[in-house]
Amino acid sequence: MPPAEQRPWEFAAQVPRRLGTVQSGEAEGGREMEYVRVQGVSIPMIGFGTWQLQGETCYRAMLSALELGYRHIDTAEIYGNEQPVGRAIADSGVDRSEIFLVTKVWSDHLAYGDVLNAARGSLERLGVEQIDLYLVHWPNSKFAIADTMRAMNTLVEQDAIARVGVSNFSVGQFEQAQETSSVKLFTNQIPFEVGRSDPSMLAFCQQNDVLLTAYSPLGRGRLARSRELKAIGAQYGKTAAQVALRWCIQQPKVVAIPKSTSSERQRENLGVFDFELSAADLAKLAGA
Ligand SMILES: NC(=O)c1ccc[n+]([C@@H]2O[C@H](COP(=O)([O-])OP(=O)(O)OC[C@H]3O[C@@H](n4cnc5c(N)ncnc54)[C@H](OP(=O)(O)O)[C@@H]3O)[C@@H](O)[C@H]2O)c1
Repeated sequence: MPPAEQRPWEFAAQVPRRLGTVQSGEAEGGREMEYVRVQGVSIPMIGFGTWQLQGETCYRAMLSALELGYRHIDTAEIYGNEQPVGRAIADSGVDRSEIFLVTKVWSDHLAYGDVLNAARGSLERLGVEQIDLYLVHWPNSKFAIADTMRAMNTLVEQDAIARVGVSNFSVGQFEQAQETSSVKLFTNQIPFEVGRSDPSMLAFCQQNDVLLTAYSPLGRGRLARSRELKAIGAQYGKTAAQVALRWCIQQPKVVAIPKSTSSERQRENLGVFDFELSAADLAKLAGA
């Protein structure tokens, strides 16, 4: 049982519908899923990335991930896999209310009406009534951010999405987006891995109660082969991939969304809640 401040269902009264009932779930690998608290909501620290997963491979990988205890799913309009993601959610037997579902509007669709249409398309393909977190996938200076945010706010008013976020935004771009949105932005999803962090964005998120969602947290697989991470992991009985993920989530306000096709590696990537990197190892990794 996670400590009181990490139990998402404790906040049901403050949280818009769905997420208020996320259950803790015993993540495989013998450890319970842990959560990051942001804006009064608890988000599973390890999510499941789905970029490059297609069709049946995506469907099977999703079913496996949900069975293993993943409850935070990341997809996007541009990934072309919202249908199999939605089908797996429906077939998994996991209650929809337990899943934190994130998708993104592509950067060519940022005009007011296009955002509304894109969201409708995503809802339909995913087969859900509401998206828990809807992100602007990339900034695009061809569109006025105020227009895009106005559409995102309309979607919240219509209950089509529960939260608004962005991806690949700089601190300045994030601030500009926030200024034009009456809804507080929930996350910035950015590349974040050992050796490729973004200290100014991290500090901004920590100071402003914004979630930093770390994408490509395994360096697209490269970090799982790192000799340095393997040596650090050996001290804890952990793999290089587990060290890479632990490094992300050990920092306040950070969650990581690794992708894996294999159930074995999905399970491995959840095995990050039963150890803590020492200050000395964190210092070593800061210079990696
Ligand atoms: N917002 C954006 O612009 C953006 C951009 C990129 C990514 N993302 C999101 O972030 C997610 C994760 O990023 P990513 O897919 O780029 O890269 P990643 O999660 O850092 O790495 C995925 C790669 O690592 C391998 N892998 C996974 N677990 C492993 C393990 N334990 N040991 C060894 N290899 C392992 C996977 O291979 P197998 O599948 O064979 O296991 C795959 O090749 C994406 O799926 C997507 O949802 C968002």
